[in-house]
Amino acid sequence: MTEIVIHGSSFYNEDCIAGCQAHIPDASVDLIVTDPPYGIKGDTLHKHYNRNEAFVIDGYIEVPATAYGDFSRRWIAEAARILRPNGALYLVSGYTQLYHILDALRATELVEVNHLIWKYNFGVFTRTKYVSSHYHVLYYEKPGPGKRTFNLACRYGLQESAPGGGSLNYRDREDVWLINREYKPAQVKNKNALPTELLVKMLQYSSCEGDLICDPFMGGFSTARVALGLNRRFVGFELSSAAFEQGVALIQALTPGELLEQVRQPQKGRLSHQGHTWSETEISAVYQRYDKLRVEGVTKKAAFEILSAEFGRGRWALERILRRRGGTP
Ligand SMILES: C[S@@+](CC[C@H](N)C(=O)[O-])C[C@H]1O[C@@H](n2cnc3c(N)ncnc32)[C@H](O)[C@@H]1O
Repeated sequence: MTEIVIHGSSFYNEDCIAGCQAHIPDASVDLIVTDPPYGIKGDTLHKHYNRNEAFVIDGYIEVPATAYGDFSRRWIAEAARILRPNGALYLVSGYTQLYHILDALRATELVEVNHLIWKYNFGVFTRTKYVSSHYHVLYYEKPGPGKRTFNLACRYGLQESAPGGGSLNYRDREDVWLINREYKPAQVKNKNALPTELLVKMLQYSSCEGDLICDPFMGGFSTARVALGLNRRFVGFELSSAAFEQGVALIQALTPGELLEQVRQPQKGRLSHQGHTWSETEISAVYQRYDKLRVEGVTKKAAFEILSAEFGRGRWALERILRRRGGTP
């Protein structure tokens, strides 16, 4: 096991299951963002097992398909243990082993918040079937007495409207994310690296500066780089020594907080529909949406924030309209 501390964050060249058990206390992590090995190489891996029962490909350690269910249950149980109450997990997975991941998540106390789809460019080209061009992102929460961090207007102000109409904030929070993979010719990179834009979005919505972020499968250290770049703290694991050494060099070269000035800031200003006359259609859409949100268990305050984002109206205007049908909203 090697532990390296850089910029106050800890990086372990170690199996994440044993590593979490040894180094990470219960309920100590605010957010986990991770992309576990895919387990897609079928059963032929047994020919190549080393003593870790793993297969090394260019600094990437794969898990055999036959071991994937057990492996998922063990690392996801650790993830659930180290998350603090109301902490969250983003788990990126392909389709092939998704059922194992879902089974493992259901065996924990974690609860689903959203099932997101990350749609990317450069899908796997096919001639006889559709092109595969998405990943699943499972966004889960550890139940707790407080509120999960969700920074509603961290990227787009509630009043910001798109050029053709509609709320930018609403669009940014739809559950299908179109984010391109990064193309970095002539640069050393982990071939499975998650794009910075994807990670920035997860971290902006679901964490605050100073929070502790964990990635049990660091690969090219993308989560770590974004976490430190956004002034979060970090702890993570990578089993491959080759990937670990490359990643450590990248972390040593960065300056904490360096991404903060590059990320989009929400614009403040007038709401898109503020001052516009209400149409009957809009009023009935507001009623329906509000009722649906409340039935789903959304708090009154959060429901107004959502309505404001979706309809481009201020809270008081929305309350006034809802009061018109009688009673207090
Ligand atoms: C899909 S990649 C992660 C890519 C990463 N998200 C990035 O953006 O670069 C999965 C990584 O997990 C590592 N790995 C496999 N088994 C592991 C284990 N038991 N503990 C820690 N890391 C492991 C692999 O070597 C690989 O680098």
